[in-house]
Parts: sequence; C-alpha cells; structure tokens
Amino acid sequence: MPKLIVIDRAGEEKIVEAETGLSVMEAIRDNGFDELLALCGGCCSCATCHIHVDPAFKDKLPAMTEDENDLLDSSDHRDANSRLSCQLQMSADLDGLKVTIAEED
Ligand code: FES
Repeated sequence: MPKLIVIDRAGEEKIVEAETGLSVMEAIRDNGFDELLALCGGCCSCATCHIHVDPAFKDKLPAMTEDENDLLDSSDHRDANSRLSCQLQMSADLDGLKVTIAEED
C-alpha cells in the first residue's frame, strides 16, 4: 500500500498507509488528523482540505481544475505548492508523498 507522510500543524510528521484509490484527504482524515476539516466531504466546494505538497511530487499530480484553483484563491495561506487534498487520488506513483496540512483560514 502506498505510504503518505503527513505533517500536522504542530510540525509533527507521521507516516500512514494510504489505500490506492482513496483521496489524499480521505487517507489523512481516516488516520485521525482532525485538523483537516474537509467540510464538504470531497466535492471541491469548501477548501478546508488545503495542504502543501512536497514540490518533488509536483509532476506526478493531476492538473488543477478551475474550481480547485478558485477555491485555493480564497485561502490566505496559498503558496506554489498548495492543493486541495480531496482532489488528489492515492496511487502507487504517489508512494512516499509528503504533505503538510495548511494553516487554518
Ligand atoms: S473537502 Fe471540501 S474542497 Fe476538499
């Protein structure tokens, strides 16, 4: 099973197993990180699943949709590595993906 490395808001790093096909948001939430609210349940309408992705994985991520881009624009903490974790699906290609839960807006 692919591994996902999650850094929480306190800066603590935890390695979790992330089933292929689950979204990164689901993998984070299912592993007890309650600071990732994911209020809309993954339908790309809330931006509370905002993460910063290790730039080393940038080329392996799917392109951002206009909706995702617009939602990220609403965050004060957007940077070049920002993504919505519900829009990224775990796959063997993303094994070892490192993400940081974004600051709260
Ligand atoms: S969970 Fe709402 S946009 Fe990702």
